[in-house]
Amino acid sequence: MTDKTFPLEPIEKASIDELRALQLQRLKWSLAHAYANSPVYKAKFDAAGVHPDDLQQLSDLAKFPFTTKKDLRDSYPFGMFAVPRDQIVRIHGSSGTTGKPTVVGYTRKDIDTWAGVVARSIRASGARPGDMVHVSYGYGLFTGGLGAHYGAEHLGLTVVPFGGGQTERQIQLIQDFRPDIIMVTPSYMLAIADEVERMGLDPKELSLRIGIFGAEPWTNEMRSAIEARMNIDAVDIYGLSEVMGPGVANECVETKDGPTIWEDHFYPEIIDPDTGEPVPDGQEGELVFTSLTKEALPIIRYRTRDLTRLLPGTARTMRRMQKITGRSDDMMIIRGVNVFPTQIEELLLKRPELSPHYQCVLTREGPMDNLKVAVECAPGVDPEGIAARAAAKLLQHEIKVYVGSSVEVDLKGEGGIERSVGKARRVVDLRPK
Ligand code: DLL
Repeated sequence: MTDKTFPLEPIEKASIDELRALQLQRLKWSLAHAYANSPVYKAKFDAAGVHPDDLQQLSDLAKFPFTTKKDLRDSYPFGMFAVPRDQIVRIHGSSGTTGKPTVVGYTRKDIDTWAGVVARSIRASGARPGDMVHVSYGYGLFTGGLGAHYGAEHLGLTVVPFGGGQTERQIQLIQDFRPDIIMVTPSYMLAIADEVERMGLDPKELSLRIGIFGAEPWTNEMRSAIEARMNIDAVDIYGLSEVMGPGVANECVETKDGPTIWEDHFYPEIIDPDTGEPVPDGQEGELVFTSLTKEALPIIRYRTRDLTRLLPGTARTMRRMQKITGRSDDMMIIRGVNVFPTQIEELLLKRPELSPHYQCVLTREGPMDNLKVAVECAPGVDPEGIAARAAAKLLQHEIKVYVGSSVEVDLKGEGGIERSVGKARRVVDLRPK
């Protein structure tokens, strides 16, 4: 609508020294707040023999105990909150696959902080004043929909709060309203693009200029595929409910080199997942976050189970994280070799005969785990035909060479892989329990 851009916030241009000083001051506050107001944290710190006063510099954080999903589950629903329940203005939760959901809460100030970091994320993605945002992340206990929504409103953009599902109707509204930005999981974006094509339309002709994709791992190869198909900039938004929701980190459109972590609110560490020891920036490991400003649910050294590494800032002074390779939960061990769905995705997207719709199916024969990659052929490609079969052979060969695993490739016709309207299920575990 306009060529004007939004100005950066001062902290996005601060020097590293200024940023570290702010982090230290906020970290002291956050530890003291957790210790004084959350009985769970008081007990955890006491058991570990640490006190908030033991933090004199940022690296002292390593003395403090980790928080895990189990801590949240054990204190279900509100046991870890550090403010009285009547100061909580919002509850969210993550469903998980088993048992009770993980419950998180926000004060009014937390909601403002969150809206602020999502607004910053949308701006970093290339939003301009006057833009319209179509939100296809689910609304509800999941943080995606409302998180995106409040951020877009905070930035003063026009929000279309669609949520997930009803794909044809989404497309109808996108055609009628002409939004500039879509916020959605990358896998559901693909399902929308497929439907657009099925309706005889060209996804490139839609009004969309930017896609802000997250809530699940997706590769740079997937980025290129979506950008080419839709003629948009595809940027990565990262977050998790325990730490806040979407907008903990977001890529800057000018570099697209991994999400910039909004370090003035979330302090990142990478640890060796086996020993729990912090590793230096640049080294792979498990991402751990400490909230610096959250009131309702301060979170100290939360183990995300997401695997990545910290990288120096480029478009901003704040550090980046490399695009997530995978969650440790999604790691498959096939005859001693660690395999992530993203490694498979990277390779299968090189084959034009194959579509980006895939699943990794695990089975067991005797003592051996087997991995079958179920992948849909590109539209119009016959799964029985020679071209598809050659592509499958090549994929199998490349997985053997680059990942180190022998897998079976199971070609499916169009629609043969289930579509999600939110997070895609990449690993289907059929092994006997
Ligand atoms: O998925 C929050 C979110 C909503 C992020 C919308 C981005 C967009 P949870 O349901 O708690 O919260 O799931 C968090 O999803 O630990 C990662 O494993 C994964 N995840 C989230 N964003 C990304 C991303 C939301 N950009 C879990 N890349 C996290 C890879 C992601 N994985």
